[in-house]
Formats: sequence, C-alpha cells, structure tokens
Amino acid sequence: MSERRIDIVAEPDHLGVARWYAVASPGLVAGVAGLGPIEPFECGSPLPAAVPPGTLELSLHVEPSWRRRGIGSRLLAAAGAHAAGRRLVAEVAAGSAGESFCVRHGFRRTGAWGHDLLTYCDVHHAWLGELVDVEHPGYRLRHWTGDVYGATSVEQMLRRPSRPGDAVVSAAEADGGLVAYALARREGPRGRRARQYGPAVRAGHRGRRLGLWVNAALIKRVREIDPHVEEIETRTAPDDPAQQALRRHLGFHPLGRSLRYEITLP
Ligand SMILES: CC(C)(COP(=O)(O)OP(=O)(O)OC[C@H]1O[C@@H](n2cnc3c(N)ncnc32)[C@H](O)[C@@H]1OP(=O)(O)O)[C@@H](O)C(=O)NCCC(=O)NCCS
Repeated sequence: MSERRIDIVAEPDHLGVARWYAVASPGLVAGVAGLGPIEPFECGSPLPAAVPPGTLELSLHVEPSWRRRGIGSRLLAAAGAHAAGRRLVAEVAAGSAGESFCVRHGFRRTGAWGHDLLTYCDVHHAWLGELVDVEHPGYRLRHWTGDVYGATSVEQMLRRPSRPGDAVVSAAEADGGLVAYALARREGPRGRRARQYGPAVRAGHRGRRLGLWVNAALIKRVREIDPHVEEIETRTAPDDPAQQALRRHLGFHPLGRSLRYEITLP
C-alpha cells in the first residue's frame, strides 16, 4: 500500500551527492535516498582505473516504523528519474530487507565483501612504527591529505596540493610514479570511524611488502592527523586471500559481510 501522507522532497546536489527525503507531516523525515559518485579507490589489482562512466552509488534508508509502506520504492523512483540510463550500485547486508528490496526492484547481485575493523586501542604502536620505518630501497613513502571530491583516481588526487580534508593517502612511489597506496576517509567531521580503501599495489611491484608498508603508514598517519578516529573499517573481496591475510596481520577483525547489487536504469 502506498503512503499518501508522505512527500518526496529533493535536495539540490551538494559535493556531487543528490538526496531525496520522504517527509511525513508534520515535518518528520521517514526516509532518505542518496546518489553519489562511486568511490574510485576500492582496492583492486591492477590499481583501479577510472570508474565506469556514469556509475552512481545508491544509499537508501527508511526509518523502521515507516517500512513496508512503499516509501523506499518511492524514494528509489525519485532517484531513478534523476539518473535515467545510469548504473546504480548498492551495498546491502546479506539476508536483509535491503537485499529483498533490491531483488524486488530488479537489481542484480554482482559481488560480496567481507568487512573488517581495526580498533586503535588494539594497535601496538611501537610495532606499527617499526613496520613504517622498514627501508624499501628504490621506494619513497609519501603522505597526502585533502578532499576526494571530483577525483577519479589516486594519481589525480596526489597531483593536488596536500591540505586539511577528510581523506588521507599513504603512497609508495618509485621514479616519481605511484606504485602502491592505501586511502582512508573519516566518516563525518568529527567521526570516530574511518573507512579504508586498499592497499593496492601495482603489478610488477608486488611481493615486496609494499602493501603492508603503505597500510601501516596509513594507520599511523590517520591517528596522527585526527586523534578522534578510534577505528578503521575496510572491506575485502572474498576471493582475495592475500588481502585478508594482510588485514589479519595488521590486527583487523572480521565485522560481517555485505553484498553488492547493481541495476542499469532504463
Ligand atoms: C530496504 C528499505 C530501504 C526498504 O524500505 P521500505 O520503505 O520498507 O520499502 P518498500 O515498502 O518500498 O518495499 C518494496 C518491496 O521491497 C521488498 N521488501 C522490503 N522490505 C522487505 C522485507 N523486510 N522483507 C521482504 N521483502 C521486503 C518487498 O518486495 C516490498 O514490497 P511489498 O511490501 O509489496 O512486499 C528499508 O528496509 C531500509 O531502510 N533498510 C535498511 C537500509 C538498507 O538496507 N538499505 C538498502 C539500500 S538499497
């Protein structure tokens, strides 16, 4: 049954993210949908190239007491009308209402991730410092901070001047070129959690512990820059045992699993 008292109100794009609110009288928000550029920094090998043009990440949330009244579907329709012909990607928990919703609306399952969490109070800082201090002849460690808005690759971001922002990159360079990186973004201005992407190491430079190096450097750097950050979340493809082993080595603990669903809109 559709919910007649709900208005869907669009908010203008802000930093590339468009939002729609399901507003219930009197002024109560029952749900929100967002569409934004997909993160181009997800770990992968080789280093991720430009994201397929036009792909958008969908976020959708309906307050529990307002669910199963068609509000999620109305928010999706509003977002979909804005993104005709584009590919949408959504992340949902396995077996959740979100998964049923995606299946109902014709999304296709295209992957899964394992999520891991590192808590700073579990980190042995002297050990971490030693990992960062290990010499890697021929490679140079570099840090960058800033905002990722508009960037479609890490190389592009590193060409911008480093300045305060919500993203931190620790990168290894050889002959001036980027060969490995790990990136973290803080969730919210004073968020206690950061989300990590990578590490990713360019083919031809693997087997030299560069992934461990840049990841250890990133963990250290994030905390130096922002002491409010207490934990780092990251996700890993299930068919990437090397990445999973590296996460365990650094002290990440399994947090859960999520699924990736996609649809190309008509
Ligand atoms: C997923 C979510 C947005 C759905 O919102 P909603 O307003 O309840 O969705 P709708 O009422 O429009 O549901 C449309 C259809 O999705 C399916 N669906 C939604 N919730 C479901 C559930 N709990 N179990 C089974 N099917 C479900 C049904 O087919 C439903 O149609 P029906 O009610 O006629 O059977 C909401 O449950 C939510 O916020 N979940 C947490 C966040 C999340 O998972 N987001 C998904 C990102 S895509």
